Amino acid sequence: MIKSINDVVKLNNGILMPQFGLGVWKAEGQDVVNAVKWAIEAGYRHIDTAAVYGNEKEVGQGLKECGVSRHDIFVTSKVFKMGYRETLDMMDQTLIDLQTDYVDLYLIHWPHPELGEVYLDVWAAMERILKEGKARAIGVANFYSEYIERIKEEGMTLPAVDQFECHPYYQMPELQQYCKDNGIQYEAYSPLGGGAIFGDEKLKAIAEKYNKDIAQIVLRWEMQKGIVVIPKSVKQHRIVSNMNVFDFELSEEDSKAIDAMDINTKVTCARPDQLWPDFLKEKEERMANGARF
Ligand SMILES: NC(=O)c1ccc[n+]([C@@H]2O[C@H](COP(=O)([O-])OP(=O)(O)OC[C@H]3O[C@@H](n4cnc5c(N)ncnc54)[C@H](OP(=O)(O)O)[C@@H]3O)[C@@H](O)[C@H]2O)c1
Repeated sequence: MIKSINDVVKLNNGILMPQFGLGVWKAEGQDVVNAVKWAIEAGYRHIDTAAVYGNEKEVGQGLKECGVSRHDIFVTSKVFKMGYRETLDMMDQTLIDLQTDYVDLYLIHWPHPELGEVYLDVWAAMERILKEGKARAIGVANFYSEYIERIKEEGMTLPAVDQFECHPYYQMPELQQYCKDNGIQYEAYSPLGGGAIFGDEKLKAIAEKYNKDIAQIVLRWEMQKGIVVIPKSVKQHRIVSNMNVFDFELSEEDSKAIDAMDINTKVTCARPDQLWPDFLKEKEERMANGARF
């Protein structure tokens, strides 16, 4: 049962992770500090950042100024660089920037399959980070099951989380099932499709039925599937309204109607095995042909 912003999921190493959090990609400067403080004030206890977002220092400042103990907040960050030594160094820099001794969850941000299996070296460093207590749990992002299978074949620690783009237009049900079968928590990044869902008439109709807005409907739909969500906003009223998802239940019929909206289209990020310029070109062409996103 999903009851409140304090709801947690249990990761495969026993660590508890709040099912609802705040994302801060593409946010900068004072906006980040404010967003973190507003979120914590509203009741959020989970913040998702990454070294590559260039805002860990501001997240750290927000955490320092928010008035809630660091130990009561779940902080995720991610390593983007590839390589064993690079990963250890990035972790240390992240801890300095966040002004903390540990992160709750550290993720490999991107598998970079164009570099072969170097993600296995990164994973070995992640295991060391876990052992040293610099992260309470380790996981991956943008990993297809085949990359996780390689980690398993090497007899290494199973990732606790796979963070993947997930919204009505891109659902990856097979990957979700794979994670479920393997005890890996599925976490939705871009849970609002980076904003793409907002002009959708079908979602609007469902939202009207429940007297909710589209963001609340979609976040609730994801949470009812057991998925962790980290909607991003730097606007206080949205940070507050996005968490207003605990006083209603989506019917099975409406849930299924949203399931049926899957068009397997990535909106915010490249596929893990695709180079970014190719993704941007593909998206530009799609939109030139009249697509909304
Ligand atoms: N691991 C990865 O590779 C990866 C990739 C992408 C994202 N992420 C993580 O996932 C988080 C969320 O994804 P995201 O930032 O791509 O997109 P998102 O959360 O799906 O959508 C954010 C966008 O929607 C707007 N928004 C938020 N709430 C709204 C509301 N109630 N009504 C209207 N607009 C609203 C935000 O604008 P305002 O800020 O102006 O409100 C922003 O433009 C990121 O911030 C990041 O932490 C991870």
